[in-house]
Amino acid sequence: MPVADLPKTELHLHLEGAAPPEFMAGLAAEKGVDLSAVIEDGMYVYTDFPHFLQTYEAVSTVLQTPDDYRRLVEAVLRHSKSEGVIYTELFLAPTLTGTSLADWPAYLDAMEAGADAVPEVECRFISTAVRHLGADMARETAEATVAHLTPRLTGWGMGGNEALFSAAEFAPAFDIAREAGLGITTHAGEFGGPESVRESLDHLRPTRLGHGVRAIEDPALVDRIAAEGIVLEVNPGSNVMLGVYASLDDHPIDRLFRSGVPVTVSTDDPPYFHTSMRKEYADLARVFGWTRAEFDAINRVALNAAFCDAATRARLM
Ligand code: ADE
Ligand code: ZN
Repeated sequence: MPVADLPKTELHLHLEGAAPPEFMAGLAAEKGVDLSAVIEDGMYVYTDFPHFLQTYEAVSTVLQTPDDYRRLVEAVLRHSKSEGVIYTELFLAPTLTGTSLADWPAYLDAMEAGADAVPEVECRFISTAVRHLGADMARETAEATVAHLTPRLTGWGMGGNEALFSAAEFAPAFDIAREAGLGITTHAGEFGGPESVRESLDHLRPTRLGHGVRAIEDPALVDRIAAEGIVLEVNPGSNVMLGVYASLDDHPIDRLFRSGVPVTVSTDDPPYFHTSMRKEYADLARVFGWTRAEFDAINRVALNAAFCDAATRARLM
């Protein structure tokens, strides 16, 4: 079997970032929203990471009602199924839905209904703070999250611009989520270096890191991550498209793997980065010679790190 056809576990997929441009263009037409500045020739348009975040937020304005989100979750999970994904975790952003955090429960309930429509893909939701909105908003987002938990809402995390604010400022938000029993991850080591990773580990105490790849710049940090078993949600295609690495040949995923770091593979925001799970697997096989043994190993790591119950994990192993 070609490795691209293997059953896959994906831990790092942003819901709005997974929306196909044609889906968002269709919604825009229904609602009379003009997206011509951000979707050109059927592709999302951006130049660098800050501009990517701006485009992402501009495109997301077409998602206006809970039913829009229900349809999006269903479309994204149908696509995951076509990629051979059997388990996925979707990053949700309560600050993007509705006009205030008070609207969040209705949106989350609609997303649960969207996931119910695709039972072939086991799905969990990770509520996230958006780092560039600051620590107060992160705390409010965590409070809104734990006030309305649903069966699939099992994780908490943070995305957004890693260059802004210190990780320590977000500790109160992460404490609220941890005390509610949510699994903890955070983006770090994507645009920030080893210091950002260290600070995130010390203050936010995640079991997983979104990206985390720039830990490679500090061998002592690589040793720490391996010793503590912190799982990296690596998104190679994203890193290359956003210019963190010039090409996949320069990407540290294989070196991290060989150093004993638990790595996994995801797509982050696949249509933005012209990637898919099948493409990521095929590229890793081509560039690093990864075989079924490596992919079986990373999928085992991913399922063991998944924010799901033991029975679900056992069924999918
Ligand atoms: N939000 C969506 N994609 C992201 C990424 N790659 N890094 C940080 N925040 C994000
Ligand atoms: Zn991400």
